[in-house]
Amino acid sequence: MIKTIAITGASSGIGKALAHEFASRGASVALLARRLDVLTDVASELQQKFPAVKVVTLSLDVADTDSILPALQTAKSELGGLDCVVANAGITGVNKTGAGDFRKDQRVIMVNLIGGMATVDAAARIFREQGKGVIVGISSVSAFKGIPGSAAYSASKAGFSSYLDTTRIELKKHGIDVIAVHPGFVKTDIAPNMDKYPFVIPADKAAREIVNGILKGHSNILVPAMPWAVLGRVMPLLPDRVIEKAF
Ligand SMILES: NC(=O)c1ccc[n+]([C@@H]2O[C@H](COP(=O)([O-])OP(=O)(O)OC[C@H]3O[C@@H](n4cnc5c(N)ncnc54)[C@H](OP(=O)(O)O)[C@@H]3O)[C@@H](O)[C@H]2O)c1
Repeated sequence: MIKTIAITGASSGIGKALAHEFASRGASVALLARRLDVLTDVASELQQKFPAVKVVTLSLDVADTDSILPALQTAKSELGGLDCVVANAGITGVNKTGAGDFRKDQRVIMVNLIGGMATVDAAARIFREQGKGVIVGISSVSAFKGIPGSAAYSASKAGFSSYLDTTRIELKKHGIDVIAVHPGFVKTDIAPNMDKYPFVIPADKAAREIVNGILKGHSNILVPAMPWAVLGRVMPLLPDRVIEKAF
């Protein structure tokens, strides 16, 4: 039973929608992101819609990895427990490889991969102590096959998926479930013109599918399930020229 959840990147998009979805099912939520003013607005919306649930806001930059454990500990103490942590915070970074802007790629790896891993690690520390917990990592279908122009983003997600797969095996004996989520395209602020991407879905639909999958105990959630359950298997086999044409 998941009654208390901390979500990173909860100020917009999928993270905000997950907070709404969990709260609608009676769970208390800790919202974490850098923009505390935006989180405060999200929290007010949630409290108005779901007055019975507890909502906590905490400022967190996941690139500052040392600050993640204290933030999750505060979330646990303010919520009165912590059943689930969702490592969702992430950024894109369109970049032309070799064009002189490697720092952009470095930042993507820092936030998506190192920040994501550090969130999983901090959650695992808390959950090992209590002997149970659910860790959810938001990866991407670009983990299956890289997108030209977003090589660092694709690498960050492939790395994060691999990390989640391995930590799932490591942490099982401590009573901890690790769930990897691979969304396709979801209409959020992460990139302009998201509504023009193939098979795009709104964030609230994505959140509903993700929470359903988490509550059913699925270890790998593709969102939306169709067509990505099929495409996810086909993508790694596609020749470069097909990817080149598609993007
Ligand atoms: N939208 C899609 O099509 C899609 C597809 C596959 C995977 N995803 C993944 O889904 C996750 C959420 O993305 P989204 O689409 O919902 O994008 P979004 O609307 O831009 O939300 C990103 C969230 O991450 C937070 N964030 C960014 N950098 C952060 C940092 N350094 N520390 C803490 N929080 C940070 C942002 O909040 P602040 O700016 O307030 O910090 C925001 O709440 C990401 O991991 C993304 O890669 C998205």
